[in-house]
Amino acid sequence: MSTRPANDPAVKQAARSTAYVILHNTSEVVTPDAEGREVLRFPKGAIVFRDGRVVEVGPAAELFARHPDARPHNANGRLVTPGLVDCHTHMIFGGNRAAELQMKLAGASYADIAAKGGGIRSTVRATSESKEEQLEKQLANRLERWRASGCTTVEVKSGYGLTPAREVRLLELMAGAAIRVPARVHRTALVLHALPEEYAGRREAYVAEVRGGLVDEIHRRGLAGTVDVFCDPVGFTVDECRSVLARAAELGFGLRLHAEQTARFGGARLAAELRARSADHLECADESDWRRLGEAGVVGVLLPAAALTLRLPLPEAQMLRRSGARVAVATDFNPGTAPAQSLIECAVLAARLCGLDAAEFLLAITWNAARALGVENEVGHLNPGACSDAVIWECESLDELPYWMPSVRPDTILIRGVDLALPAVERRVWP
Ligand code: NIG
Ligand code: FE
Repeated sequence: MSTRPANDPAVKQAARSTAYVILHNTSEVVTPDAEGREVLRFPKGAIVFRDGRVVEVGPAAELFARHPDARPHNANGRLVTPGLVDCHTHMIFGGNRAAELQMKLAGASYADIAAKGGGIRSTVRATSESKEEQLEKQLANRLERWRASGCTTVEVKSGYGLTPAREVRLLELMAGAAIRVPARVHRTALVLHALPEEYAGRREAYVAEVRGGLVDEIHRRGLAGTVDVFCDPVGFTVDECRSVLARAAELGFGLRLHAEQTARFGGARLAAELRARSADHLECADESDWRRLGEAGVVGVLLPAAALTLRLPLPEAQMLRRSGARVAVATDFNPGTAPAQSLIECAVLAARLCGLDAAEFLLAITWNAARALGVENEVGHLNPGACSDAVIWECESLDELPYWMPSVRPDTILIRGVDLALPAVERRVWP
């Protein structure tokens, strides 16, 4: 039996579980409110985490008085936000398309490049030629890069397999990579991306097989929680997308759409009709489309890297505010239109190009992005009950986040209330 008195500092220290933490000495703690409508700011605030959940956020002196046994974690006078959420990436692919960017800059269109064997199908080829272990390892490394830049929740889409068998394999590899990294990974099956060469001239048969077979298999095997489609003149029609998404909805999947990217085509209306979680891209959407999204509670996801690469405009913040829609920003990380490896850099660009203020900027990469994934009760904010995922930034105020270029860097990334060291860049997660 220990002879030390209970108030001995060593005994007290031992009782301070790593699962019970008070994050203090912040410049400010900022978080969306529980409904994701506004951003709450707590100057010199603190947060108490217990067993991976937020217990309280508020003035440090009060929290210290109520939680004397929590282990202190000193934020060194810096800004604390929720962990960021990147709600739209195509992170599993082989090769890259750097040469295509040069063609694009020299004046070639998306269609010209596709005609020369480039575009989505060239990545499908490079992906099928990659070793599976390599795809899984590269995805895990990318997820670690995202964590290093402050993203604690990341969505990953399949979509460079195209045939049902290859799509299923990509989803399996995604599951394998996800368990190797601490970030929370949301798997989406992007099931109508491009017509696979194997189905040339058999478009109807392809859509029927996706609807009647692939979506069911993904559901039965629990390989994804969300289904996405590319609704576009260079992708699939509104009716094709509706038929696949309707089946996905029957099975309980969350629905997402790539909508109004290269032309105004009806994807945003379809998203509203089906009460999708999000409609993404929307470069060619008009104000009535945004209003419909707002009325239907569908998040509009802006992808500034893709808009810049394709030289498409982004919407004005004034119009977005009038529409009443929730707005998220994501990287769209993919080898063609968005080789963008930092969510915060994308949001910094969106803030400049659209005119988002600091609060809108934060909502776009936290609560609204979580909502696009259907996990806004869990992540994207620091209200009581939320997951204890937070970032301490190398700056002191929220206004600095959209300000610096290149962006502010994270100092510490907490997932489940714990700070895990980031492995060195080249040997991140694999032996
Ligand atoms: O989100 N729009 C369709 N899919 C991707 C681009 C895919 C590619 O070019 O490889 C996007 O922009
Ligand atoms: Fe995309």
